[in-house]
Amino acid sequence: EANYEFLKVSTPRAGVGLIEIHRPKALNALFTPLIAELNACLKAFDRDPSVGAIVLTGSHKAFAAGADIKEMSTKSFADAYGTDFIESWSELPNTFKKPVISAVNGHALGGGCELAMMGDILYCSKTANFGQPEIKLGVIPGAGGSQRLTRAIGKAKAMDLILTGDNFSGEKAYEWGLAAKVFDTPDECVDGALATAEKIAGYSRIAVKAAKEVVNKSQDLGIREGVEYERRVFHSLFGSEDQKIGMKAFAEKKKAEWVHR
Ligand code: CAA
Repeated sequence: EANYEFLKVSTPRAGVGLIEIHRPKALNALFTPLIAELNACLKAFDRDPSVGAIVLTGSHKAFAAGADIKEMSTKSFADAYGTDFIESWSELPNTFKKPVISAVNGHALGGGCELAMMGDILYCSKTANFGQPEIKLGVIPGAGGSQRLTRAIGKAKAMDLILTGDNFSGEKAYEWGLAAKVFDTPDECVDGALATAEKIAGYSRIAVKAAKEVVNKSQDLGIREGVEYERRVFHSLFGSEDQKIGMKAFAEKKKAEWVHR
């Protein structure tokens, strides 16, 4: 078991990895050492055959209050560009194959909102406070916010939010389709995310991996290419034992015992 300074890591349910961002002094503000730990931890879960899905959360007070403004404030253009500042954050959506559920309570601002949106599923509670306030700091979102928020809720609302820096509630996130579910309390939100992760972890790993892959393709491809891509991946699953097992179990009214676990 690796020891992390800024993360609390556990496996609270069968097949489920839980990562809690833990930097309470700075409301979980995200800085390079924390992101390095997060990437290392996700990599470890991605390789761990006992884990099928991952929940990423913060505290009740803050999922993450943004990129660390103190770390950023003195950077020059050459520092930012030269080190590809924030590029390491993009490992999360592009590198990890297992589903990650973001469970958002409290502040999810700037980089915190962007990190939450990098998850494959986003759940939140009514306490969630989302926003892209970078404009107030003289900058713009830098970890995908302008792209992912716009895809999720549409240009009209995303432009309004990013140009004003106004925050929005967990209920609005749900109403606008950014969050898949909204819960009354933070504990219910984390429990709900863990229950969903456990359910996903109970399916064939091969099918889950393919399902995540094809849904993500919809963000990059046109509808026709996307549908063709989906069909090819669908065909390929007829080469997995789990397709035989799942369909046979249905016919025999039994529970499927997956081999790809
Ligand atoms: N970076 C660094 N430190 C932060 C921080 C951040 N993003 N957010 C909070 N903190 C620190 C505060 O400085 C404070 O530290 P001290 O006790 O040492 O003063 C501590 O966390 C607690 O914060 P507050 O006292 O401000 O708590 P609050 O409850 O009064 O307010 C808040 C909460 C409204 C979230 C407020 O902290 C805030 O506005 N934070 C900044 C939010 C923000 O602008 N985020 C976007 C950052 S830019 C970005 O993320 C760029 C990108 O796209 C990648």
